[in-house]
Amino acid sequence: MEIVRTITQLNTVINAAKKQGSSVGFVPTMGYLHEGHISLVEEARKHDDFIVMSIFVNPLQFGPNEDFERYPRNLQRDEKLAKAANVDVIFYPDIEEMYRSELTCTVQVKKGVNTLCGRTRQGHFDGVATVVLKLFNIVQPTRAYFGMKDAQQVAVIENLIADFNVPVQLMRCKTLREEDGLARSSRNVYLTEIERQQAPEIYRCLKQTVEKIENGERNLAQLKEEMVEFLSTKTIGTLDYVEILSYPSLEETNEIKGEIIIAIALKFAQARLIDNVIITV
Ligand code: PAJ
Repeated sequence: MEIVRTITQLNTVINAAKKQGSSVGFVPTMGYLHEGHISLVEEARKHDDFIVMSIFVNPLQFGPNEDFERYPRNLQRDEKLAKAANVDVIFYPDIEEMYRSELTCTVQVKKGVNTLCGRTRQGHFDGVATVVLKLFNIVQPTRAYFGMKDAQQVAVIENLIADFNVPVQLMRCKTLREEDGLARSSRNVYLTEIERQQAPEIYRCLKQTVEKIENGERNLAQLKEEMVEFLSTKTIGTLDYVEILSYPSLEETNEIKGEIIIAIALKFAQARLIDNVIITV
């Protein structure tokens, strides 16, 4: 497995693979890899011959009061995990390689961002869309693998691909969880012992809501109220949102019908956790 730090080097490696007829699978990440990231690589291995992973903590998608500086980083550890998962090349650019000068153009996401994480993280998805479009142009993959843990990100990137005619196939990958249901996340390391014990209540709450819907409950306001009640009783976290929306359009719906997302964001002292489930009713 190679680690390359420049776009020129990366092009050389990818062009060589493509010349041999390999399809290219791309897994963009911000590093501090965990099993969730690795599950994307495993999915990529099923479809593609040559696997590129990027590790880049993208400053553009962090707000001024967010954890850019503090975001966990450990290349040595990431290298071992990626190698064991059979990644072919890690693209590990520094900020200057990705943003050579002040950007004169950025992507502005207009739809699906005034809700869920977009509501409190102003500009976050503009930063994500900008870096992902750049990465798509740099890597030119056959397929790109994204986790449904970040379902809003998937919806935004699907629109980005359609709007800008990017010749890549987005592959939605399922959320990988700890045994107790907590979605794997690089930010889980910030949880205190008691918070870690309580964190699985997020997924329990989602599952409970799914069950209620499956049993015929259709009162949206009541379902959300019960979610708020559940989380405030079971955890010391501060609720950022509970939402039930259409997916992937992320619009408020009056009726529970078709593909819908049930989503939660809960803030603990040092970590804001998100999770969701998508069901078809
Ligand atoms: P990051 O948070 O490192 O996540 C990289 C990819 O791993 C995303 O597609 C995310 O949805 C997926 N992922 C994270 N936890 C997962 C889990 N428990 N199960 C399955 N997949 C999981 O998302 C980003 O980085 C950035 O916004 C990025 C797309 C790289 C742009 O900077």
